[in-house]
This record gives sequence, structure tokens and C-alpha cells, in this order.
Amino acid sequence: SGPEVYTATGEHLDADPTVRAQKGSRLTNAQGIRLYDTDHSLKAGERGPVLLQDHHLREKITHFDHERIPERVVHARGAAAHGVFRGYGTASQVCKAAFLGKDVETPVFVRFSTVLGNRGSADTVRDTRGFATKFYTSEGVFDLVGNNIPVFFIQDAIKFPDVVHAAKPHPDREIPQAQSAHDTFWDFVSLHTEATHHTLWNMSDRGIPRSYRTMEGFGVHTFRLVDAEGGTTLVKFHWKPKLGVHSMMWEEAQITNGVDPDFHRRDLADAIEAGAFPEWELGIQTFPDTPEQTFQGIDLLDPTKIVPEEWAPVQPIGLLALTANPSNFFAETEQVAFHPGHLVPGVDITDDPLLAGRLFSYIDTQITRLGGPNFAQIPVNRTHAPVNDMLRDGLHQSAVHSGVAPYQPNSLDGGCPFFAGAGEGAYVETPVTVERASKVRESPASFADHTSHPRRFYLSLSAVEREHVIAAYTFELSKCYEDAVKQRNLRVLADIDPGLCAGVAAGLGLPAPEPSAPLADVEPSPALSQLGHTWPTD
Ligand code: HEM
Repeated sequence: SGPEVYTATGEHLDADPTVRAQKGSRLTNAQGIRLYDTDHSLKAGERGPVLLQDHHLREKITHFDHERIPERVVHARGAAAHGVFRGYGTASQVCKAAFLGKDVETPVFVRFSTVLGNRGSADTVRDTRGFATKFYTSEGVFDLVGNNIPVFFIQDAIKFPDVVHAAKPHPDREIPQAQSAHDTFWDFVSLHTEATHHTLWNMSDRGIPRSYRTMEGFGVHTFRLVDAEGGTTLVKFHWKPKLGVHSMMWEEAQITNGVDPDFHRRDLADAIEAGAFPEWELGIQTFPDTPEQTFQGIDLLDPTKIVPEEWAPVQPIGLLALTANPSNFFAETEQVAFHPGHLVPGVDITDDPLLAGRLFSYIDTQITRLGGPNFAQIPVNRTHAPVNDMLRDGLHQSAVHSGVAPYQPNSLDGGCPFFAGAGEGAYVETPVTVERASKVRESPASFADHTSHPRRFYLSLSAVEREHVIAAYTFELSKCYEDAVKQRNLRVLADIDPGLCAGVAAGLGLPAPEPSAPLADVEPSPALSQLGHTWPTD
């Protein structure tokens, strides 16, 4: 057995050597050597030169020099909380995941974020919000890495660097630091019309939530649930806030940005500290898992499209409550690493090409951000299920593995561990048939419609919500320097709704173009309006 380790206050550290507190009388250096002074460098005489041999000085400053890690390439600014998820058992017919069982309680960690601002940016900007949940289930970690907007700017992950480069501040002047109002973003979305639906949501009140506590969350992609018999159902995940969906007025958001740039993180932390635990119901829209993977003509693999809730009601399957603030922002909120591929038995992916790229991207970026491949060992990322892997060594390895045979098959460490089958709790991929097909760099024809869904969204809004959308487009586009960019965006809006286009054109003092094609004949979906948002009712 190794040496006994104690904290500065004398507590035994064998349970969790990662916990360190700075209180107590016995301040030590990192090697546990007790210090008699941490305020003065070692010098040759009181007024003489500082000595290179002062290890305490060098250790203290060297460690400080390396305190910063890269911020997330997107979603850098966030706030998080611990909580618990309780399954209702209502999903058990379509999903065998243990954490969805009736009254099963699962610890969770949830991180909310803006997308485009840096770590020090303001909270109440117009932007998409991240809504990422880590479920520490008995079967391993499940991450639901969603947003507060149910669609995305792009249909294929290969466009992610393009959309993010366009939306981040201009490379020359690093303006604007805020999320929108710039030529590169509006240039891109006017040329890349599959972004229209997401952009319209951003320009609506959804772009400036009142609070993280009053946001919906969406898994965006269609996922595949698997039941105990191997039957499959396609689903879209929804988080519905118990407090209802609320936004800020643009003017409120501007003032709040100045008065309290930490407004959303303060609101979340204060509410939890006061015992007003925010709650969301998790719900699913379910669709038959047909070979076409469409529902009433909507391609379920296209992340720029949604299925109206009137056509496929959201069915509640569990309740999330956030009950505790992190005790250390860096250790938890900053170092948490979500991944859409962290799945448990019963939840599987579909062939949405945007999701495919995400499955690659998150672990790749986290190897840089968290300094090597061992970030699953960081406390906030640790699974609560037993781990018996053969991953070894690497930067920041903190486990001391025993045995000599981290390979399979082996005869030296007592042979191979038992391999479970699907019926015994193993994660087994759904045997979806993949047709033999030519390799292509093309989208299906069903991905070509970029107007009918944004049109439905706009037509579903109340009059006051539409006014806000017109005002938002007018403000943002008025900040563009290039007239051609403004005009091209008006052409995009003409294909969504003539009233929207005319309103923005009038605000910009430009002529309103005609639609390029007959407008889609779509029924509004009242559930898309915040004012028409009625669920949950209790
Ligand atoms: C981070 C959601 C698309 C790459 C995040 C976060 C969320 C999120 C919530 C923040 C996680 C946290 O709080 O730590 C989404 C959603 C998407 C989407 C809902 C579309 C449906 C993509 C795509 C890519 C991507 C297509 C790349 C191909 C990243 C990266 C991070 C990130 C690199 C930073 C992760 C980290 O440093 O830990 N995303 N994202 N995302 N996302 Fe996405």
C-alpha cells in the first residue's frame, strides 16, 4: 500500500485524492512539504537578488502560468448545475434504458451556454443556447447534447467550420464581439439558405431567453430508441420548462447586458441557492422506424426540419430538477466534456449527417481542450458505473492500473473479462440495414426545401412575436456594411413571407423583392408560438 495522504486540515485523503482545500494551518507545497512563508521570494539578503534555487517560488508561479486551458471552440460561455432526473416509466414500452424506468433516479450535470461569445462575454445576447445534460446512469454515461432551438443551420457537419467561421467575429477587426449584426454571418446565411430556419428562430424571441430556467431544450436530431425485445422507434427529444417559456425584450436584453453581463448564470445560481429548483420535463415525439425514416413527408434525418407537435404530440417521460450549484467552476463547468456518442443501451443514433460529424468532433476537440485522452477521469466526467477498460497511459493519466495484460485475448491476468450480450446489459448497435450504394457527395432531394419550415414557424407566431422578428432582422441587417448582403437577405425573406420581407425592407429603406417561387402552402403550428405554449399544465 502507498503512503497515507492528508489534507491541509488533517483529513485522510484516501477516499478522494482530488479534493484540496486551502483552509487550515498546514500550508504545503505540491509535494506536501510544509511551508513557513508564501509571501516572500528567497533572496541573497533582504535587498539582494532573488535566488533561482527557490523551488517554492518557481512551483507557485509555474503553476499559475498554466492555469488557463483553451476555451471551447464554440459554447465557451456557460453555467451549470447538478441535479436529478426521475423517470416516469412511460418510455419503457419503446426504450429499455434503465434510467427511464418508473421512479428511477439518476444524478445529472447540466451545462447551459451561449454559442458564439467567448468565456467572458455577456449572457443576454441574441444567440442559440446550449442545453447539455450528462446522465450518470447505472449503465454508464448518457449525454443529451442539445440546444434551445430545435433546428440547426446546416444539414451536414462538413459545413460546421463554415458556419462558425462566418458567425464568429470578423477575422480582421474581431468585431462584433456580440453574437450577430455582422456582414460575414449575414453573407453566409443569405448564400446558404438551409440556415434560414435556424436564423429565423434566432431572430425570434427564442434568441434572447429570459432565463435558462425558462428555455425549452431539443435534442435536434432524430434518435432511435430500442425496446427490450429489440423493437425500434424514431424519436425527437424535448425539454419543457415547468416555469414556461419566456424571453426578454430586445431593449431589456441590451440594458441587462450592461448592468449585469452575468445575468443568466446569476439567475440560475441564485434560484438554486434559494431552493427554487428549476424543473424540466423530458418528452419524446415518436415516429415509426420505417425504411424511409420520414413522417408525413418530413425527412427525419434533416436537422433543419421539425415535426409540428400537433402532428406528433410530445409525450412526457421524466422530470429533471436542478438542485445544487457546482462548488468549483473550473473543475466542473469548465472541464465537463459532453459527447453525443455517449449512449446507453436503448438509445441509438440515426444517419443524420450532422450527427455523424458531431460524433467525431467532440472527443477530438476535448483532447486538445482538456490536454490529452484521459479526461473521462476528471471527477465531473467520471461514470457512476463500474469501469473495466483497457485504455492505458497518456497525458494526465491519474489511474494506477494493475496487472500486465491490457489486451485481449490474454491468459496472464486470468483471461478475458466476461463479454455481455444485449440481453445482459451490453451496448449493441441496432442492426440497421445499409443499402449497397455508390459513394456520393450529395444531399437527398428531400433536403432541398429550405423555405416551407421557416414559413410555418413565422406563420405560427403571434402578431407581437412577428413584430419582434421584423425588428430583429432590421436591427441586425442595418449593422451590415455591404448593401448587397442586406439585399440578398431580403430575397431570402421574400421566399418566407411577403409581410416579413416588406417590414424589414421598410426598416432598412430598401425595396422589397418579390418571391422567387410560389410560397409553400403550410398550416401554422400554434405550439411554436411562445404565447401558444401550453405544456406542461400542472
Ligand atoms: C459544443 C450542441 C452541432 C461541434 C456544444 C455544446 C452544445 C452543442 C450544447 C456545449 C457543450 C457544453 O456545454 O460543454 C450542438 C447541437 C448541434 C451541434 C445541438 C446540432 C444539432 C455541432 C457540430 C459540430 C459541433 C455539427 C462539429 C462538427 C462542437 C464542438 C463543441 C461543441 C467542437 C465544443 C465541445 C467542447 O469543447 O467540449 N455543441 N452542437 N457541434 N459543439 Fe456542438
